[in-house]
Amino acid sequence: MRVLFAISELYPFVKTGGLGDVAAALPLALAERGIDIRFMLPGYPAVMSALKRPRRIRVLRDYFSRSDATLLCGTMPCGLRAYVLDAPHFYERLAPYGNGGHDWPDNHLRFAALSRIAADISFYDDKWQPDVVHGNDWHTGLMPAYLAWRGQPRPASVITIHNLAYQGLFPRATFAELGLPPECFSVDGLEFWGQVGFMKAGLYYADKISTVSPTYAREIQTPKFGCGLDGLLRARSRDLKGILNGVDVGVWNPASDKLLPKTFDAQNLEGKAENKRAALEEFGFRNTDEPLFTVVSRLTPQKGLDLLVDALPPLLHRGLKLIVLGTGDAPVENKLKAFAAAHPESVAVRIGYDEKTAHLLQAGADAVIVPSRFEPCGLVQMYGLRYGTLPIVRRTGGLADSVTDAGLNARADKGTGFVFSEPTSAALAGALSRALDAYRDAAAWTRLQRNAMAQDVGWDLAAEKYATLYDEAQQTFRAHSPFSAGTTIAMPPLNPHGGRHEDAKRSSFGKAI
Ligand code: ADP
Ligand code: GLC
Repeated sequence: MRVLFAISELYPFVKTGGLGDVAAALPLALAERGIDIRFMLPGYPAVMSALKRPRRIRVLRDYFSRSDATLLCGTMPCGLRAYVLDAPHFYERLAPYGNGGHDWPDNHLRFAALSRIAADISFYDDKWQPDVVHGNDWHTGLMPAYLAWRGQPRPASVITIHNLAYQGLFPRATFAELGLPPECFSVDGLEFWGQVGFMKAGLYYADKISTVSPTYAREIQTPKFGCGLDGLLRARSRDLKGILNGVDVGVWNPASDKLLPKTFDAQNLEGKAENKRAALEEFGFRNTDEPLFTVVSRLTPQKGLDLLVDALPPLLHRGLKLIVLGTGDAPVENKLKAFAAAHPESVAVRIGYDEKTAHLLQAGADAVIVPSRFEPCGLVQMYGLRYGTLPIVRRTGGLADSVTDAGLNARADKGTGFVFSEPTSAALAGALSRALDAYRDAAAWTRLQRNAMAQDVGWDLAAEKYATLYDEAQQTFRAHSPFSAGTTIAMPPLNPHGGRHEDAKRSSFGKAI
């Protein structure tokens, strides 16, 4: 089976969160299962420099703009083949989605272009035709719409929701620039309360939908978590599957992690103490046996860190230290900075993004706190499990699916962390307090650490499930697609200014590739 995996992030080249980590690991796990999988990536500068032996497939005249784009095919350092849309006017930017809290104003074009090229790959590469195009999040949400409106033959489409809260909503006026037929702008299509919804397009038109944990798959079918799309998701529930993410057990391996001062494993947990010392020192604390808890997170309301700021003060007299590494929304950042300033002897906050420090904190801390209001999957708690850093999490989404509560007395044989239910500071304080109690019982704590480190958090199981989903997507497409009746619906000209695809030979593209 041939699968085109279209995604806007790829660790270590472009990453704003877990999406980049998934891109770096899931396709490799699928390739190991024998799936012939290739990336479709935007030509961000870091991707362009990483792409080895690029070959020009096609020059696309006036691709969604007045500038040309070039479709390249090469090999990424991980060994997988990748198609890259080289369009500097779209992707040569400081950050993938925006800057200083503002989205790039042409995001609808940047990601329509990515979606369209993913849908159209089979037109351009006559040597490699995908059976399935697998898109991820709103950035590739239009891909299933482009495919659906093309008519047959076409590949089947799968879209994975990594976070329904980011929907790619754009003003109605942008619709005319997308090259989709007018019927598409409808409640039975991509229209969402008068706007263009890229995520909605994906959910409406994809042959199969997945999301990144079974619990989140259930949650998003309710008004509380559905972000206005729960009705559509309920209507499509037969086509919606929750598949829990894994983690890259090569990158996140305490026994071989090159970013750590000292490696360790479940049998030799003493090495963890050296990392704790280094983490404390780096954040200006003296070495101590008192518990060290950490947070490594995007700082957005989703992550529930305001609950932590309210829950922690009454517990600080118990000797605990907290180190936060994160970046994100200014109000959350400011709240955390003020919190650290008020409790300098116990709390340190670093605003910033830094992979090395993230590894050090996962290795050196005793527990990692993820009090999210919602969490589609969450990888941070899984890294915690790998490093014997017990997760303290809210029972939602993938947090609920990956952490087993240790119980009141930390005696549960299978416990791997501490779980609380209500999104309140009181409930979080209860879980923190149980963790502090458990920490005082060294034998119980070590048992929990070993349980956590023994948990299988690799990608194998998920890869098997995605492979099944690809099969099912092809069957759904053949059996039920409302667009597969045989009439090929012509696409309007791609570019409102009249531009169209041009053969490379006729272009004046001069860059040596
Ligand atoms: P989300 O994708 O919602 O941000 P995940 O838990 O799935 O949440 O993934 C977050 C990823 O981003 C993890 O790899 C985590 O280590 C990383 N990360 C988050 N914030 C930072 C930061 N400030 N510095 C380094 N890595 C970070
Ligand atoms: C999103 C979600 C996170 C998930 C990640 C990877 O960023 O917020 O929960 O782990 O995608 O799927």
